[in-house]
Amino acid sequence: MTATEFNSPSAVGSGTAATDKFKNERVSADTSPERVAAIANDALSALHKVILDHNVTYPEYRVLKQWLIDVGEGGEWPLFLDVFIEHAVEEVLARSRKGTKGTIEGPYYVANAPELPSVATLPMRDVDREQTQLVFGGQVTDLDGKGIDGAIIELWHADADGYYSQFADHLPEWNLRGKIITDSEGRYEITTIQPAPYQIPTDGPTGQFILAQNGHPWRPAHLHLIVSAPGKESVTTQLYFEGGEWLDSDVASATKPELILSPTPGDDGKNHVDYNFALDPAGE
Ligand SMILES: [Fe+2]
Repeated sequence: MTATEFNSPSAVGSGTAATDKFKNERVSADTSPERVAAIANDALSALHKVILDHNVTYPEYRVLKQWLIDVGEGGEWPLFLDVFIEHAVEEVLARSRKGTKGTIEGPYYVANAPELPSVATLPMRDVDREQTQLVFGGQVTDLDGKGIDGAIIELWHADADGYYSQFADHLPEWNLRGKIITDSEGRYEITTIQPAPYQIPTDGPTGQFILAQNGHPWRPAHLHLIVSAPGKESVTTQLYFEGGEWLDSDVASATKPELILSPTPGDDGKNHVDYNFALDPAGE
């Protein structure tokens, strides 16, 4: 199979995989009945107001009902929620953080990626090695700038065709994923490929939602990261690229000016860039 056969990611495949992985986590939250009632009542009131303000009709209401069923049956709730809702939840978390800015995790994180030393290359295929290589270095520190020995950088991103390993059958299990351990000063240098912008899957109900309003399904090129260390709050974030297409109209509303990299071409033919992460202390 050639890469071009995969130019349109299958929402059915990637959506179902995201649902299956999420269901295995069995999440919970310690929320009182009073708080559940307050949030639920406000959410329903907001929806009622939209219906009244826009004079929503019975045919439109039935289309909504059918679409909600389709999203669930297509396994696309993780995709839809992480693209259109998660950024607001992340905004709430960001209110209490002083260190490196976070942003959404998205539906394609997988725990337990292969552990790599502080200077490392992500697992990649020969076809990935033909892409522009990116040498991404820097330091993980506390809020005072002190380097953190043994901090963990989990890095994952799409290949040049927009596919994430474990959400596309043609890719090796841990392609372009790794868990990098920083050195005694908190430093790291990771070689990977320069990612490209990609479309979220458009062949399912999330795609219908976008196309029905003449929207676009593009995300700007990005790296996903979770940076953590003992005694520190972990930060889940993404890094983008200066001048990149779709930076100003990300379908997932997840870009921030503090998260934009400006790599420079090196004599070795690779792009080079540094980015430092500052972690908040745990529990503050
Ligand atoms: Fe992504």
